[in-house]
Amino acid sequence: MTRTAKSALIQRKGPRVIRSLPALRRAVAQMRAKRETVALVPTMGALHAGHLALVRLARKRARRIIVSIFVNPTQFAPNEDFGSYPRTFATDLAALAELKVDAVWAPTAKTMYPDGFATRIAPEGPALAGMEDKFRPHFFGGVATVVAKLLLQIVPDIAVFGQKDYQQLKVVTALARDLDIPVKIVGAPTVRENDGLAMSSRNAYLSAEERATAPALHRALKDCAARLKSGRPIAEALAEGRAAIERAGFMVDYFEARHAETLAPIARLADGPVRLLVAAKLGRTRLIDNIPV
Ligand code: PAJ
Repeated sequence: MTRTAKSALIQRKGPRVIRSLPALRRAVAQMRAKRETVALVPTMGALHAGHLALVRLARKRARRIIVSIFVNPTQFAPNEDFGSYPRTFATDLAALAELKVDAVWAPTAKTMYPDGFATRIAPEGPALAGMEDKFRPHFFGGVATVVAKLLLQIVPDIAVFGQKDYQQLKVVTALARDLDIPVKIVGAPTVRENDGLAMSSRNAYLSAEERATAPALHRALKDCAARLKSGRPIAEALAEGRAAIERAGFMVDYFEARHAETLAPIARLADGPVRLLVAAKLGRTRLIDNIPV
């Protein structure tokens, strides 16, 4: 075998990187022509073990896997970290090659939002639950718009999202249902570091000292869940959880007990299933987490 043929073979092992809509449509049509099932895993790149767990779950449910990597400008407010959001495309590709991902959909912002782009989806219901939406009012509109575009560009059989972003998972589930997009939204469990910190691309922003403090967030959730199960009133358990996080050095945005499906506030454990959700800032880094009770 010639050297070029060999290197072409090696390259073919990695996912195919697709950058234009016509190429994406052709790739999906080829999969569909062979009656292969297709899974989509939407991401903003800077992939870590949490993202890779979504890919592994997708692999169990579908024959072909497309991972999208797109740092979506419309879900960042002007004062947020769009410019500095970690971008690690080459290492992302290498990780996806190991998992035998078929294609990476990596459009430019111009491809997703060409000049004259004039449509924005305004999600309601779980998108107005008074948690992330209260502190990032632009966020779910941007997420819903980009996820609707991704789902309609590919129309996968399934799309996998992490429970790490629990409110987002509920918003996307409602979006697919309400817009009659024929896709099954699958939620995947949160992947954590050994000390309990939920993996996140934004953990890279933490200083060594902040990194040592960060697991307090998950610990407070677990302690709160244990107290609720032992009969502590919800309001008390939440106040204790919030205080524990503040003592550790966080500025708390919210610490809530919500109905796990509707995200409505909940007064008694018996009205559940209950999900505890928290968002808090450690220095300049905003972390979110949630667990079932
Ligand atoms: P991103 O933050 O890159 O996350 C991509 C997916 O990975 C999301 O579904 C998220 O919930 C999941 N994820 C992140 N950390 C995880 C962890 N520790 N365990 C399990 N899953 C985890 O979320 C987005 O991108 C964007 O909003 C997107 C949906 C791609 C739209 O732009």
